Amino acid sequence: MKCTVVGLRNSVGLARSVSKLLHARFLELKTTSFPDGELHIQYPKPTLTGHVILVQSFHPNPTTALVETLFAGKTAQELGAKKITLVAPYLAYLRQDKRFRPGDCVSNHLLAELLNFFDHVLTIDPHLHRIVSLSEIFKTNAQHITANTLLAEFIEKKYPDSFLIGPDSESSQWAARIAQHIHHPFVILKKKRYTASSVRTKVQTPTSVHGKTVILVDDIISTGHTMLEPIKQLKNLGARRIVCICVHGVFAENALKLLQKAGATVIATNTISNPVARINVAPLIAQALQ
Ligand code: R5P
Repeated sequence: MKCTVVGLRNSVGLARSVSKLLHARFLELKTTSFPDGELHIQYPKPTLTGHVILVQSFHPNPTTALVETLFAGKTAQELGAKKITLVAPYLAYLRQDKRFRPGDCVSNHLLAELLNFFDHVLTIDPHLHRIVSLSEIFKTNAQHITANTLLAEFIEKKYPDSFLIGPDSESSQWAARIAQHIHHPFVILKKKRYTASSVRTKVQTPTSVHGKTVILVDDIISTGHTMLEPIKQLKNLGARRIVCICVHGVFAENALKLLQKAGATVIATNTISNPVARINVAPLIAQALQ
């Protein structure tokens, strides 16, 4: 089936790269806002055919990105697309996966309900904690792939003698698996989060980190506090170099500057467009779509 890749506002560059790798037609969706703040989207063609692949990261502005995605998907159907895939390299609203407090909304289920009209949803390293598979919340074919191999290759090449740390138990899906893949020593820490910006962790390592390159690995850096706590302690323990590597560089509230100011080198993939995106996920996406 003929394939068209469409770049939505948060992922135009990534969509273009994916279209080149797939030898597919590329279109950029035109999204503007009316004076009252409502969104207006327009395809640059009056009709669409075949398989239409929308590429949209849900950061920045996750809520606006969601509305743009819903409008773009439904409009693609109306304009004639036979199959519609959503590639959401970073899918937001997954971390609220239970009713933490009475009256809370469980947003991961609601997000899935809204996206179920797509024939295929593809995402990278979604935040799966209390659910293990996207099929638990999606009715449509929802597939997740991991950037672990890309992160492992990057670490192996740039920091061959490094010690890896996962800053909390959930990060072992990335830190432990990557370390095992490249045979690097690692440890997974325990974290207690009190509020979005208050986190407690104790760095305890089986061997000394003095003089070593230490790499903190996690799926998401949002406020950066999960990384900041161990960075301070690692500096006191004499680590020579501290590198923070994540899949999704959300970098809320000046987090990137905070981490850099604390003395860490920060590296992310380009699932979200960001100034330290040095790991390119376009080949991973193209391979999953072939
Ligand atoms: C949480 O479990 C995630 O894996 C990350 O550790 C978390 O989202 C990072 O958040 P922040 O950067 O705000 O500490």
